[in-house]
Formats: sequence, structure tokens, C-alpha cells
Amino acid sequence: MAPTNMPVRLVFLLTFSSLVRGQGVEDSGKYPIVVSTWPFVEAVRAAWKAVDKGFDAVEAVVEGCSACEELRCDGTVGPGGSPDENGETTIDALLMNGATMEVGAVAAMRYVKDGIKAAKLVMQHTKHTMLVGDRASVFAISMGLPGPTNLSSSESMEKWKKWKENHCQPNFRKNVAPVDSCGPYEPKDSMGHNVGICSAGSSMGIVDSRTSLVGPHNHDTISMAVIDKMGHVAVGTSTNGATFKIPGRVGDGPIAGSSAYADDEVGACGATGDGDIMMRFLPCYQVVESMRQGMEPKLAARDAISRIAKKFPDFMGAVVAINKKGEHAGACYGWTFQYSVRNPDMDDVKVFVHPLSGKGNGWRTWETVAPIFSRAKINTKVIVTQSAGHAFDVMISTKDEELNSYDGVLAVTQHSSIRSPA
Ligand SMILES: *[C@@H]1O[C@H](CO)[C@@H](O)[C@H](O)[C@H]1NC(C)=O
Repeated sequence: MAPTNMPVRLVFLLTFSSLVRGQGVEDSGKYPIVVSTWPFVEAVRAAWKAVDKGFDAVEAVVEGCSACEELRCDGTVGPGGSPDENGETTIDALLMNGATMEVGAVAAMRYVKDGIKAAKLVMQHTKHTMLVGDRASVFAISMGLPGPTNLSSSESMEKWKKWKENHCQPNFRKNVAPVDSCGPYEPKDSMGHNVGICSAGSSMGIVDSRTSLVGPHNHDTISMAVIDKMGHVAVGTSTNGATFKIPGRVGDGPIAGSSAYADDEVGACGATGDGDIMMRFLPCYQVVESMRQGMEPKLAARDAISRIAKKFPDFMGAVVAINKKGEHAGACYGWTFQYSVRNPDMDDVKVFVHPLSGKGNGWRTWETVAPIFSRAKINTKVIVTQSAGHAFDVMISTKDEELNSYDGVLAVTQHSSIRSPA
């Protein structure tokens, strides 16, 4: 284990079996298959159980995302997490059938905890695509889902109270006065003057707090793709959105083509990250369309992410792409991304970590990387070394028996031995 406070470089991580076969992180492909953003292992197991029994892709996605909602994966899926400025938790969810191109979605849904089931009701029992807010709740309850339910938890209320005490910082406002308290806010022009109002606003600069708002524990969305035994593709997402969002905010979660997209003819895509930015690029639509033009999943994923990074170099996000053969690959930017996979070749869910995760090709402190690995509950061998070559030598000379006991291997290089990325 690397000592704490030691800046390290994430050099590479491969699942052991891929290393042995000399493959990259991408898998050879097979279906049925379940793929999900993040190490939401229980959700993938639930979806796998359904699809393995012969349920169709749509049913399996609903099973998987429901499991995540019940477990409140990371506190950012299902009830009880991500309070908005008023302390309320709301739900965004999407379901898409790649066989028929039908979509059902709910956005900013209040008082109903079953996001993906509500999305399914919209898809299967209406001619619409999306319902929002209170009206989505009324529909969901009228169609048999439990509610009205208080979606707050003691944790979400506690988090919200602390945020209020901290003058409602950080928040998603910009170009407003007052900058440093809870409002009400007024628009300010770019010179920092209040628009149309002569009173002296706060002269403090606007704190760009976006980076402190957007992180792996704020924007986790489950975005899941399934290919069933018949080769049909479906995707679904569920999230309670960004913490401390402005009430009414809808992110990428319920937007088809942004957080997820599926087409039987091509494959599927799931996305997670800074949804406010990502939804401007429809990255999952892009991934699927690139694959349709013949790009392999790895390149399609990378291309979609780099289009966003070019315009928003500070964004954080990731996509995972699967083609209809079941070949999958992830691409990420600005953070350490993992996705989970289960297919007939695997005994259990595998968590894949992008080898170049993080800003500057993997520059991350050990403190930021370690919790992610423990969260994934994967048994990782860590090699602290001076060079990637040495890490490889260590791997080669390690007995198969020992290597087989790990889910992955992480090689970290001490900061002092590497020049900082420009
Ligand atoms: C909802 O639940 C939270 C946390 O348990 C509680 O603090 C809050 O008062 C409840 N709201 C209502 C309207 O009952």
C-alpha cells in the first residue's frame, strides 16, 4: 500500500484475466450481457439474474436499476440522497427499448421513489416520452406505484443543514448577487453589477465552485445496458440528480441519447458525469451513431468524450459503449471511472477501471484513488514502483496462484520519479 500523502501516478490497471490473454480492458464480447456505470455490483447481479433466466432486456434493466434504487447506490440513486436547494430529493429516470426505440422517462419526480418503474409505466402505458415534476408523481401513483412518499432521509437533511450553515456554498448559481449567501439571488451582468438595480451587490468575485460540486460522490448515475438472449438491447438510468441543484433542474439522466441510448441494430451506451455539460452533446447518441458508422466501441467512446473535453476542459464524465456483439469499452475524462460487466464468460460481475483514468492521464493522489477501490469491493494488488516497466516485471514474476486471487492490479509510481504533465 502506498503511504498516505504520497502523490502517485496511476499507471495501469488490468483485470488479471485480460492481462493473461494479452488483451486490453475491452472484452471479447458475448451476450447476454449486462453493463453498468460504476461498481454497482448488486444492480448488475440483479439484472443478470433476470436476463439469464430468459427475461427480456427491458425487464432486466428495470430489475437492475430497481435494485440500485432500493440499495440507494452511493446515495445518489433512489430516495434519501442529493437534496436540492430546498432540501428535497427528486428522481430522474429513463428506460429505452432498443428493439422498438420506445422511451419512457420521468424528470424531477417528487414523492415517488421508484424511478425506473415510473419510467417503464410512461413507456408502456402512454404515447408520451417524458413526464415531469408533480405531474409525473400523480401519474406514477395513479398507475399503482407507492406514494406519496417522503424522499428525504436523515442523511440528506443533515447534509442540507450543513450546506445552509455554510451560506449555501457551493451552489450552481452564477452571475448573481449575493454570491456568498442563500439568496434570494438577483441577476448580475458580467461586470459584476446587478442588472437593472443600482444597489451595491457583493463585490466579491464569483467563486467557481463547479469542481467542488461535481465529483464521484455527487453525480453518480446508474446507467445500465443489457443485451438479452434474443440479442435485443435496452438501457435505463436512475439518479436523484446533483446535490444542491436549483429546484427544477433536470440533468442528463432522463434524456435519451445523453445518459443512455440503445438501438438493436448497433448496440448501446451509458454515460455518467457532469450532466449539465454532457447533455449538451448527447454523448450516448454520438457513441451509438459512431458505432453504426463502423467505429469500434473503444474509439466511439473516446471520440464522444473528447468532443466534450475539447469545449469544456474542466468537465468530468465517462461513457461506456457496447456493440451488438457484446464487445464493450469505457472512456473517461477528469475522474477515475469504473464500469461493471457480467456476461456468460464470467463467474460473477467484473469491475473494469479505465487505465488512463483521471486528469492528465491518471494523475491522482492515492487518497483519491483508494476509496474508489474499497467502494468497488474489489481485491486489488497494488504495486508501488518507479516505472511501469518495473510494475510489469513484478506482475510477470508473481505466481499465477497469487495473481488469480486478485480482481485487478494497480501500479502506482511515486510522484518524484515522473515529471508533471504539462
Ligand atoms: C421527511 O423525512 C425527513 C428525514 O427523516 C424529515 O426530517 C422531514 O421532516 C420529513 N418531512 C416531512 C414533510 O414529513
